[in-house]
Amino acid sequence: VTGEYAADLTFVHDVGFTNYVRSAVPFLVAHLVRGGGGQETIIDLGCGTGVWCAELLTHGFDVVGIDLSPDMIELAKTRAPQARFICGSLHTCDLPPCDGVTAIGEVLNYLHDERAGVEGAMRSLFERIASAITPGGNFIFDLALHGRCPEGSSAKHWVEDDWAMCQRAEERYGVLTRRLTVFRKTKTALWRRSDEVHRLRLYAVDDVVAMLEAAGFAVRVYEDWSEGALGGGEASGGLMAMPPGMSVFVATRRDD
Ligand SMILES: C[S@@+](CC[C@H](N)C(=O)[O-])C[C@H]1O[C@@H](n2cnc3c(N)ncnc32)[C@H](O)[C@@H]1O
Repeated sequence: VTGEYAADLTFVHDVGFTNYVRSAVPFLVAHLVRGGGGQETIIDLGCGTGVWCAELLTHGFDVVGIDLSPDMIELAKTRAPQARFICGSLHTCDLPPCDGVTAIGEVLNYLHDERAGVEGAMRSLFERIASAITPGGNFIFDLALHGRCPEGSSAKHWVEDDWAMCQRAEERYGVLTRRLTVFRKTKTALWRRSDEVHRLRLYAVDDVVAMLEAAGFAVRVYEDWSEGALGGGEASGGLMAMPPGMSVFVATRRDD
């Protein structure tokens, strides 16, 4: 088990950064609900604190959430108690038979599991998902692309009453490195500091499309979460703007 998304960053992600996945909900629902009847199962890879898993439950799906971080899984279990959760790596854990798969929030870019970085890791992940998902089912994910950090490096900070975070990011040789320093107010009103370094492999759209097609998917690529949701971009009101250098992939399992 790695130390990324430990308790303090899990808290900060949940209170400060889940508006992103909430923005994706109308798009995801529009592309997952097939109305074929019967109980459908969705696997959410890198489920984090379970915001999307809880939404899936309200839409009547059976849900399997998978995440590498024990702290993320603990919080997800309290938010979506009827879902099944697995604490493990999406690169190695068993994927049960399912009707759809999602991975939201650059999940497939992270190099937290060293196996994520090896040659062919993405290809073999796509093949495992293709074997688990029913024909016609959708595998939906966003992905950070080359140019995710447009200036090459950046520094940002967020300051709230009970937490603050500094992020220094640098993109080099196809890898985005984010150095995160979190300060969190404790019960005794002292501030605790925790540091994490996240490395993300960046991709090119064409390479990803080619790998998905080779694994047995038909692919559509979207620029943000408003396109195609609830009828052609009309749903964009109130949605958070897509960060730069990210695309959304909808990969439909071919029936062959
Ligand atoms: C930015 S968070 C997104 C969480 C959630 N999907 C959301 O949108 O709120 C990325 C998540 O991916 C998880 N993750 C990264 N690499 C993983 C791996 N190899 N297997 C499972 N989860 C992974 C992290 O632990 C983290 O919870």
